[in-house]
Amino acid sequence: MSTALQQTLEKKFAETFGREPAVVSHAPGRIEVLGNHTDYNEGYVLSAAINCGTFFALAPRDDGLVRLVAGDIMDETTFPAAAPERSDEHSWSNYVKGSLAGLNALVGAPERGFDAMFLGNVPLGSGLSSSAALETSAILAMARARGAEISPLDVALVGQKAEHEFAGVKCGLLDQATSVFGEQDHLVMSDFRTREFKSVAFPSDVCFLMCNTHAKHALVDGAYNERRECCERAARFFATALDHPVSALRDVSWDEWLAHRAEMPELDARRSAHPIGENGRVLAGVEMLRSGDVEAFGNLMFESHDSSRNYFENSCPELDTVVDAAKAIPGVLGARLSGGGFGGSAVVLVRTRDAEAAAAAIRHAYAHKHGDRCDTRAVVCSDGARIVKAS
Ligand code: GLA
Repeated sequence: MSTALQQTLEKKFAETFGREPAVVSHAPGRIEVLGNHTDYNEGYVLSAAINCGTFFALAPRDDGLVRLVAGDIMDETTFPAAAPERSDEHSWSNYVKGSLAGLNALVGAPERGFDAMFLGNVPLGSGLSSSAALETSAILAMARARGAEISPLDVALVGQKAEHEFAGVKCGLLDQATSVFGEQDHLVMSDFRTREFKSVAFPSDVCFLMCNTHAKHALVDGAYNERRECCERAARFFATALDHPVSALRDVSWDEWLAHRAEMPELDARRSAHPIGENGRVLAGVEMLRSGDVEAFGNLMFESHDSSRNYFENSCPELDTVVDAAKAIPGVLGARLSGGGFGGSAVVLVRTRDAEAAAAAIRHAYAHKHGDRCDTRAVVCSDGARIVKAS
């Protein structure tokens, strides 16, 4: 968490609204470490909240309006607190409006509105879930301001609903849940069927490098929703093919996939291999971390990326360059794409003592191949969303 960023936000807030914020919250971005496109298949994910995020500041108003300012571009919009609606003109505001609509549905429409401003340092469009950081920080602050007690799981669910209904992405719960349940020095192990979120200790001599390729991260373009439909179709196939109940791909084992893949449409067979294989890798990965076998864990990350590349086709040449280069770099233990895919960032697991040299080697390999910049940053597993100030 960046205190300097919080101070900047509070200063801008005071200059814009002529008063101090009554509530300030912070929510982190996230990395996805193992378990890709498993969340909406009721499967497992290992992820982590990271040390960059979004601060959200607000102060109640006497009327029923919300005056919302994006603190980075200083663009603003005003709308009724009781009835926020999607807007194409201020598309950045939809994450907050959707979050407010979801909160209103959960705890009732408010009588009073608020002035609000947010500011974050999660690079936009990089696959680190800047949108989840904005949603969860907004929901926490808005709930606190009206004295509503809502559970951490509900914070995540309201954020997810904002994505579905106001941003048009049928995402799973991973991004919002990680932003809420993150814990310093731990990964979050999520079970998206039972909605249990556990912390798994992460070794202290390794760290993650996030490598932002700047390739287009096109979730809203429909590729993500198309993959999701494919998985749901495959689950319906397995429900008829197998002699045990299947309500999601979570219920299908790798051996069952091998036994039945030839009976399915070829595309659905390939796509479904990915989440099915990923579920197995997450369960194996948790055991490897518990027994301290970080090399084997890293190999699972490479396998995960191969599965994305070959089966799910949600990688891209830029992400492949990072992962392929990482394989040959001393100290690197694993690498894969992180999040939806189709661009954005790759996550690289590296011995901390080798992290700087590895980052330089990845940037070099990337520039050599694509003639372009790949930004690298070391991230650490951090705490989840919380209120940082309330008067
Ligand atoms: C995006 C979505 C998540 C999840 C990942 C892929 O980050 O928002 O819900 O599906 O992609 O694992």
